Amino acid sequence: MLKIAIDLGTSVTKIFRIGSGIVLAEPTALTISKETGTIRAFGAEAKRLLGKTAEATDVIFPVYEGEIVDERYAAALLEYFLQKCAKRTFGGIEALFCVPCGISAEGRERYFRIAKSAGISRVNFAETPYLVALGQDVPLSESNPVFALDVGAGKTSAAAFSLDGIIAGLTMNVGGANMDTHLIDHIAELYNLKIGALTAERLKNTVGSLIPHDMKQTVINGRDVTTGRPRSVSVSSQDVLFPIRTYVDKILEYAELAMRKLPAEVSATMCRSGVYLAGGVCNLAGFADYVSQKLQMEAHLAPDVATAVILGGGRVVGSSALMKKICLE
Ligand SMILES: Nc1ncnc2c1ncn2[C@@H]1O[C@H](COP(=O)(O)OP(=O)(O)OP(=O)(O)O)[C@@H](O)[C@H]1O
Ligand SMILES: [Mg+2]
Repeated sequence: MLKIAIDLGTSVTKIFRIGSGIVLAEPTALTISKETGTIRAFGAEAKRLLGKTAEATDVIFPVYEGEIVDERYAAALLEYFLQKCAKRTFGGIEALFCVPCGISAEGRERYFRIAKSAGISRVNFAETPYLVALGQDVPLSESNPVFALDVGAGKTSAAAFSLDGIIAGLTMNVGGANMDTHLIDHIAELYNLKIGALTAERLKNTVGSLIPHDMKQTVINGRDVTTGRPRSVSVSSQDVLFPIRTYVDKILEYAELAMRKLPAEVSATMCRSGVYLAGGVCNLAGFADYVSQKLQMEAHLAPDVATAVILGGGRVVGSSALMKKICLE
């Protein structure tokens, strides 16, 4: 049986295949014909068209804030990805889905249904904070609790856990996509310039920074709100600091909330061991130092924050002992 881990992210789908490692990382997007609903493009090709499609075409993101919101298109996209990197072999496919902490029974049912329609024969689930730790080789035991944050595009999961299970955890609908949306309004106010979603994301990812006085600069293109003409402006890290920091602060408020629910003993251990960070948004310059200063504990950034969760998923799916311990019932 072919064993794989799948992280169907709001922004990026990642797939790990036992024996090969990470075999796919592509936008969780498709384009469809508005009139007939027929799919025109998948993944990277579809996302490139965001904001550039003709009237008759829509770009669809079937996962929103970490949840499958459109089963039909999610299943079609998954099937396309599996064709690309995990063609059905004799014996079928066993998949571990990396899911937000505290996912509902209904949320899991949706995964079951899309997995079945994409030809997956056995389905398991693991919550992403666990995988953040496993993906950066943090030794887990029954007696040593760990605190981890997965900050993605559509949601953030925070949890304290040991190998025995989750002690306290929560998922909030805040992530990189909120920053992008806010950046669009912010740039319109600041420069009287209307920018698209792809430009906003690129802006965040190139000059977004939590380092005080960071002076990185980039040039962005948009449309002048008054004249309607195309125009370029140079934007600095300081220009985008406010919208970015607002959401990071929100995320850390929730993380503190999760920590406050912990028994005193666990809290003390956690303060010593620090917080483990992963998810694409942790790429923001100065993220770990900012978190460390706000939460007053050491912050450990995964070597590659964007792939830590799926690497953790790969570790679990490759070990029957971890499967027994970590997977949701
Ligand atoms: N250099 C960067 N600076 C800031 N944000 C970044 C950077 N690189 C990527 N990101 C953001 O990280 C997010 C993608 O991260 P990730 O792949 O962890 O999310 P996801 O798994 O698709 O979403 P979710 O876990 O919320 O369902 C996007 O919002 C992307 O813009
Ligand atoms: Mg994710």
